[in-house]
Amino acid sequence: QTTALVAGAVGKDGYRHYMEKELHEHPLVIGQTLQRMIDPATRKVVLPDMPVDLATVPRAAITACGSAFYAGVVGRYWLEEIARLPVDIDVASEMRYRNPPLTPGSLGILISQSGETADTLAAMRSLKQAGLPILSILNAEHSSMARESDVVLGTVAGPEISVASTKAFTAQLTVLACLTIAIARARGTLDALGEEELVTALLDLPSKAAEVFTHGDAIRKMATIVAEARDVLYLGRGSGYPVAMEGALKLKEISYIHAEAYAAGEMKHGPISLIDRTVPIVATVPSGVLFDKTLSNLQEARARGGRLLAFTDDEGAERVSAIAEQTIVLPKVHPFVTPLIQTIGVQILAYETALLKGTDVDQPRNLAKSVTVE
Ligand code: G6P
Repeated sequence: QTTALVAGAVGKDGYRHYMEKELHEHPLVIGQTLQRMIDPATRKVVLPDMPVDLATVPRAAITACGSAFYAGVVGRYWLEEIARLPVDIDVASEMRYRNPPLTPGSLGILISQSGETADTLAAMRSLKQAGLPILSILNAEHSSMARESDVVLGTVAGPEISVASTKAFTAQLTVLACLTIAIARARGTLDALGEEELVTALLDLPSKAAEVFTHGDAIRKMATIVAEARDVLYLGRGSGYPVAMEGALKLKEISYIHAEAYAAGEMKHGPISLIDRTVPIVATVPSGVLFDKTLSNLQEARARGGRLLAFTDDEGAERVSAIAEQTIVLPKVHPFVTPLIQTIGVQILAYETALLKGTDVDQPRNLAKSVTVE
């Protein structure tokens, strides 16, 4: 089911909550954002004029808050691995005061749904003051951040009403993926064939994202286990690590269950002591280069009595379901775009858990959609 994203289309369209409606808009907003960034004739990413030469820019400094920050962390994995561009990243409330030594000529990258978050705006001004040109990835294209940026890449997510971000997050990832491809091309780390492969992976996403919703019953069943817990551990590796962070944040925000995300390989350095039957482990473990490593981390957790709830894909299904109490088999996509598919899974899990807890899903206590104070 899709919804026309016209200005003012802010009804719930028969869904119980804005969050549920906005979750279902993932395929549509990913598609719309891609339309904005990929030329259908050449199948190449097309960017507006950039304030730096992408071929020679020495570094990028990314800053944002909340979910937008986690999108930035996924962006760092992509930019460093695919475009070989070194990236500094920090939450805006830290970036604005820690006075980091910034490499002259670097590109400042801001990510925000609202374009009004006070900390992000202040961090942007401190990067500007240090002489960095600013590229902003924004959903609100007529916002304070938009006005003060050198260039804006818009996420075409439409209005996001639910306080907990959903579709804006995957739209941010879509823009970051396209930006990565363009920078990689400029720096010569991706040839035409490589670009074609990654663009195909992106264009494949809307239909694959829609398939995630066929797993609603299985995710609801998983939510019954999560809803009984007081603490939940989220694990992932590589670009799946920020997905675990996003999953844990979403669960905390709307179900009020304590959740903590760890890089799966780091679990043995602390959180493993927490593991018992009462602390479920939600793992994002798609097939790919880190699959075996992640699986062996999960086996360690399993051996200590942990209840494993896993999101994998068709290729990883057999081996994951051999050790997990419950396995959701999401569609197999190119490893580059796995974080988007896995994110939809963990966001639905948080939503279904909040429903079971009976919380105010769209307006969770103590939170605001746009935090315009420090
Ligand atoms: C608030 C919201 C989060 C959001 C964050 C950043 O804390 O509750 O969902 O991720 O602000 O907002 P922004 O508009 O800058 O993306």
